[in-house]
Amino acid sequence: MKISVVGTGYVGSVTAACFAELGHEVICIDIDEEKVQKINDGISPIHENGLGELLRKHTGRSLYATTDYQHAIMNSDISFICVGTPCDEDGKIDLTVLKKSCKSLGSGIGKKDRYHVAVVKSTVVPMTTENVVIPLLEKYSGKQAGKDFGVAMNPEFLREGMAVYDFMHPDKIVVGAHDQRSGSIVSDLYKGIECEVTRTNLRTAEMIKYANNSFLATKISFSNEIGNICKKMGIDCYDVMREVGKDFRISPHFLNSGAGFGGSCFPKDVQALVNRSMEIGYEPSLLRSVIELNDRQPLKMIELLEKKIGDPANKRIAVLGLAFKNGTDDIRESRSIPVIDCLIRKGAHVVAYDPMASDNMKRLFDNIEYASSAARALENAHACLLMTEWDEFRNLDSELAGMHRRLVIDGRHLIDPHSIENEIEYEGICW
Ligand code: UDX
Repeated sequence: MKISVVGTGYVGSVTAACFAELGHEVICIDIDEEKVQKINDGISPIHENGLGELLRKHTGRSLYATTDYQHAIMNSDISFICVGTPCDEDGKIDLTVLKKSCKSLGSGIGKKDRYHVAVVKSTVVPMTTENVVIPLLEKYSGKQAGKDFGVAMNPEFLREGMAVYDFMHPDKIVVGAHDQRSGSIVSDLYKGIECEVTRTNLRTAEMIKYANNSFLATKISFSNEIGNICKKMGIDCYDVMREVGKDFRISPHFLNSGAGFGGSCFPKDVQALVNRSMEIGYEPSLLRSVIELNDRQPLKMIELLEKKIGDPANKRIAVLGLAFKNGTDDIRESRSIPVIDCLIRKGAHVVAYDPMASDNMKRLFDNIEYASSAARALENAHACLLMTEWDEFRNLDSELAGMHRRLVIDGRHLIDPHSIENEIEYEGICW
């Protein structure tokens, strides 16, 4: 099939490269000329495992990028909308970019005399495809959905850092369709991947994505709640949750308590679902609690710090880990952001280190010190706050020896204090 992919962010670039790997011809569309150039040079526009290899393999053969919407639509049979759908200041989903792409896609479809399928891959709150995407496509194409062109919704469940693997080895493929014909066309694209395709309607497909992410976020906030209770009673919640996870109805994954969840998906998606529920007259108290607990969780690091060292003003505090999780340079909604922010307000001297994400964090905080290694960050520090689950932080030993006070507050259950040769003071955030 000939596929065009609108948007070359995390989802779009992975989708494009993986469809090329499955044997399709792919055209990427982006308004950002720099990104288009990078793809055409076979360079990955983002840091993602395996993506560079796929782009190098397929660029110039079955994949290329362009800024020209009309050209891409004319030369493809199906377009995937993979643009960002962030939250606005009130936590409501912001559809500005999605609407713009529907306008361009619609006018492209209007000029075609062949059937074209528009597929929403961006995460959108239930009924957005029906109430926003279809009306815009019809308006700008002058054609009728289901008759002259097809519409489908095909959510992604890709983890950053594992996105290429997840695309090729999914647990599920969900295809919501406005009409049977487009549902079949989209389902057929995944031939070659060993996974059953679930066919459903548009709004169910949209909801599956939100329910999926909200459930995972709930598992983490639940574990954090249990962890916070355990901490007060001197119980190791990791011992507790390990046993809880053995129940096959629960599963052992995603039960790690710590400084909370970050990233481009969980915080925004749970918030958008809360807002949408309110709009339709339902108070989602459980989901609200999931977010509230997650907002409070990183600040527990500061509470523990103050309990140990008192006022952190003018003290050198090392923050290890800036990315929202390991394996990425992405700092979106990273739990280290509220921690650094709070430390700055309290007058602490913050020294930060991350193996990948320091440059991104510099754009947010240009008033803290950035170290080139964990050892450098820890030199003469009064405390060490562990914020991201990078493997290199599991074996800090000689690095900790250089501290002014060997105090470690572990937000990710990384360190086994008994394995450290140099004696340290150790506090887990909730164990
Ligand atoms: C997530 C979903 O996993 C993916 O299916 C969806 O499509 C996009 O959102 P991602 O944002 O890449 O993927 O990150 P993920 O690996 O799920 O981790 C999210 C956050 O949860 C991280 O900040 C991580 O540190 C935290 N986390 C994860 C925990 O605090 N505890 C856990 O047990 C697991």
